[in-house]
Amino acid sequence: MNIDFIILAAGKGTRMGGDSPKVLVSLAGKPMIQHLVDRVDSFPKSKISMIVGYKSKEVINGVTSANKISFINQKNQLGTAHAVKQALPNLRKNSISVILYGDVPLVTKGTLKKLIKNAMNGNLSLLTFVKDYPEGYGRIVRGTNNKVQRIIEHKDASASERQIKEVNSGILAIKTDLLQKFIPKINNNNLAKEYYLTDLVEVSNQHSVNVTATVCDPYEVGGANDKKELHDLERAYQKKLGEELLKKGVSVADTSRIDVRGDIKVGQNSFIDINNVFEGTNILGKNVTVGSNCFISNSTIKDNTTIYSNTVIENCAVGKNCSLGPFARIRGGSELKDGAELGNFVEANRSNIGKGSKAKHLTYLGDSVLGAKVNIGAGTITCNYDGKNKHKTIIEDGTFIGSNSSLVAPLLLGKGSYTGAGSVITKDVPKGKLAVGRGKQVNLSKKK
Ligand code: UD1
Ligand code: CA
Repeated sequence: MNIDFIILAAGKGTRMGGDSPKVLVSLAGKPMIQHLVDRVDSFPKSKISMIVGYKSKEVINGVTSANKISFINQKNQLGTAHAVKQALPNLRKNSISVILYGDVPLVTKGTLKKLIKNAMNGNLSLLTFVKDYPEGYGRIVRGTNNKVQRIIEHKDASASERQIKEVNSGILAIKTDLLQKFIPKINNNNLAKEYYLTDLVEVSNQHSVNVTATVCDPYEVGGANDKKELHDLERAYQKKLGEELLKKGVSVADTSRIDVRGDIKVGQNSFIDINNVFEGTNILGKNVTVGSNCFISNSTIKDNTTIYSNTVIENCAVGKNCSLGPFARIRGGSELKDGAELGNFVEANRSNIGKGSKAKHLTYLGDSVLGAKVNIGAGTITCNYDGKNKHKTIIEDGTFIGSNSSLVAPLLLGKGSYTGAGSVITKDVPKGKLAVGRGKQVNLSKKK
């Protein structure tokens, strides 16, 4: 069966605040609307029409899809039915139309499949949910036999109708030929003078088209109109994600204190302590430990590695059995080979740290390439920047850098070489040599 998805995204979203279109607001690291597009993309034989209006260019540039999206401009936002009307010429015959609201992003594929099945049976098929404080939402008015008679918008609802806690999610499906017939029948005789898509229910009933409403998990079909709802949706999303990790055999110290803003894969028996933020795409291996308060972005961390508290990792590849932090910062595509260790207050930027190499305290490694089994003493700095250009420091296997060395790049320290503590090294050190570059100590007597 052909499925025509119509995604409504023309509104500004005044209640959300800010100038950016609401549908581009980030939920778990990606625009709300992108969550929907990703879901819809997984349906075969589907076509997406997206209704845009307010800052349409921003919306168009803000979404990516595996399939082509037809963007349709709704010049004036006269209501949700008016929005759907713009898509009518674009729909296929004999298809099922599924309407999604750009600010209701988390509906699952399983729920959509059920919704579509009901529509295939000739029904107008709706998704609803129960909300304790339903202020602002369309109420589901049921009559005898629990049949849905109509949806009344909050503004137009009577005091008793406002008591109804079953609300409209906005998501619906119907055979396209029925949609084509019914949409033009909707008028704007209401307080807001808008064309309400919700009036489709009454029109369907008038034409003896059965209306089915499936009550869903509010998490799935609850939208975000304002910052509070967005916050609640984000928290619910993160909690759910934390629970999914637990199910996969990952220990999460507290599912209410993990934030994944993007995609994450974690191997079995790994442990994620509290207050960690994962951004972009991250892949963690088995038995990885992430201490509290780390920020990890677009990185890979392999098996048995330990990240201690307060460490920041951005765009890096960390090997097996490594140790990082506490308070380490690695970035700029840095790579740690198996068994490497960067300790407290160590920063590595655009650097490769070889197998089993260590810098355990207070160090800056910029544009550096370390071989295997290098030991970097506390307080070592690569002076990689001369004010204009960045230069490389190459430190070969087994080199021992004395504490508080300044390595002025470009520089090559040969295999198994040494530097004396407190040295400023400005010239290459041949392999096996000890370089000492510092003033000699003199012990003077005090003048009397
Ligand atoms: C809508 C429903 C309400 C439901 C709620 C659930 C109507 C009339 N009301 O109210 O019953 O409980 O969603 O979240 O449908 N949009 C357009 N063009 C327009 C108007 C809106 O594209 O002319 C888009 C918006 O960008 C948004 C979506 O449609 O993505 C919903 O509009 P919104 O104004 O948020 O509707 P609600 O007041 O939340
Ligand atoms: Ca809304």
